[in-house]
Amino acid sequence: MITQSLEDGVRTLRLDRPEKKNALTGQMYTDLAEALETGNTDDNVRCHLICGQPEAFTSGNDIGDFLQFAGKMQMSETPVYRFLRALVGNKKPLVASIDGIAVGVGATLLMHCDMVFASPRSVIRTPFIDLGLVPEAGSSLLGPKIMGHARAFEMLCLGRPFSAERAYQAGLINEVVSENVDDVALACALEIAAKPPEAMALSRQFLWQESQDLSDRVDEEAKVFSSRLTSPEAISAFQAFMTKKSKS
Ligand code: COA
Repeated sequence: MITQSLEDGVRTLRLDRPEKKNALTGQMYTDLAEALETGNTDDNVRCHLICGQPEAFTSGNDIGDFLQFAGKMQMSETPVYRFLRALVGNKKPLVASIDGIAVGVGATLLMHCDMVFASPRSVIRTPFIDLGLVPEAGSSLLGPKIMGHARAFEMLCLGRPFSAERAYQAGLINEVVSENVDDVALACALEIAAKPPEAMALSRQFLWQESQDLSDRVDEEAKVFSSRLTSPEAISAFQAFMTKKSKS
């Protein structure tokens, strides 16, 4: 459900669960985490490219999994937590290509990318509060830094969808690409991979210098997020989604 390939120093990680709009399962988080972790020490990997399917980058965490696992596991034992730690600890440049919906962690992971490309039909949305949850993946720190408080509040707390154009204006994505967004993102990843890797690593490290704060914030959010998963607000929102699904 994550397909991987390596070409000229670019490891492409493609989310591949189109029938569920690329909703992320435990296995998918594990595979993504493993790729980032092993990439850190693999000289053959100079850049990661993460992409999805036509019309769906990802619809975020699988909501059935939320219901199934809430309260049964410590957050630190979950594949999603491993993935979030891998994002914070990632040492290789990360490029994303999105075409269509990028929901929940599909939106917040963009804040950990070095370059993001999106097709014009892309929509970025974080419905955390409507689900009774709180922002995750360090987005409560990165969101205001990237977009300013007002826009971060609108996205992370109001859950309003951002079009590709709006996300571009907000500084969340680098470029809105009308044709073949994956090709344009791959070309950029190859450009990065062709640069001197040590100079790239050192330069990138300077840009991500707040990583201790970010690491702490990921943990703080994860604790609250985990306890929110069993809150009546969250349970009723998850059940509403699953009921709507079973009726349709
Ligand atoms: N978790 C589990 N299943 C999901 C899912 C998710 N996050 N997102 C989509 N799916 C499933 C749907 O239940 C449906 O399954 P079915 O065919 O077995 O009924 C299938 O994927 C297609 O989704 P559908 O809702 O029919 O597509 P759509 O184009 O009408 O809407 C979304 C797409 C993303 C807008 C909508 O599915 C949605 O809102 N999903 C939930 C997003 C979310 O809240 N994620 C959690 C963020 S923390």
